[in-house]
Amino acid sequence: ADERVKRISEKIGTYPDFPKPGIVFRDIFSVLADPSVFQDLLAVLEEQIRAVCPDVEIIVGLESRGFLFGTPLALALGVPFVPVRKKGKLPGELKQVLYTLEYGTDVFEAQAKCIKLGQKVVIVDDLLATGGSMKAACDLVTSIGGTVSLCLVCIELEDLKGRETLDKPFKAIVKF
Ligand code: PRP
Ligand code: MG
Repeated sequence: ADERVKRISEKIGTYPDFPKPGIVFRDIFSVLADPSVFQDLLAVLEEQIRAVCPDVEIIVGLESRGFLFGTPLALALGVPFVPVRKKGKLPGELKQVLYTLEYGTDVFEAQAKCIKLGQKVVIVDDLLATGGSMKAACDLVTSIGGTVSLCLVCIELEDLKGRETLDKPFKAIVKF
C-alpha cells in the first residue's frame, strides 16, 4: 500500500467517547497540524481525482470541514471551488436540499449559478459517516444540473455503511 496513506492514517486523532459515550471520534485536524502529512493527503486526494475524473470542471466542498480540502484541490486542479453551506449563509439565487442528521433534519444550500448544466463535479468532504451529508450534496448538485463524477472523502467510517446510500462513484483515502 501507499506509504503516504499509512502516514496519514497514523496521524488521524482517535478520541473514544467523544462527543458522547460509545462514539469514537476521528480527528482530521491532527493531520493539518503536520504540514508534510497534510501535503501528502492533498497529493493523494488530487491523484484520486485525476485518476477517476481527469476532466473535472468543479470542486464542491461541504461546510465546514470539506472546505479545508476542497479549496486547495480546486486551486491545484485549476477549476472553480463551489461551497455547499448550511442554511442561511449564502446570498443570491439558491437551490436547497433537506438532509438527515442523527436527530432531525437540516438544509444544505448552493448558489445555482455556480454550476452549469452537465458540468462534471467532484464533491469533497473530510469524512463519510452515515452518508447523509454526502447524499444530500449529490442531490443538490444534481438538482442544479451538475453531473457528480466522484464523491471523495479523507475518512470513511465503514461500519456505518454510508457508502450504500450513495449512487455515485465514491472514494475514501483512509477507512476505519
Ligand atoms: C461531519 C463531517 C461530515 C459529516 C459526516 O460534519 O465533517 O461532513 O458530519 O456525517 P454523515 O456522513 O453522517 O452525514 P458536521 O455536520 O459535523 O459539520 P462540520 O463539517 O462543520 O464540522
Ligand atoms: Mg462536515
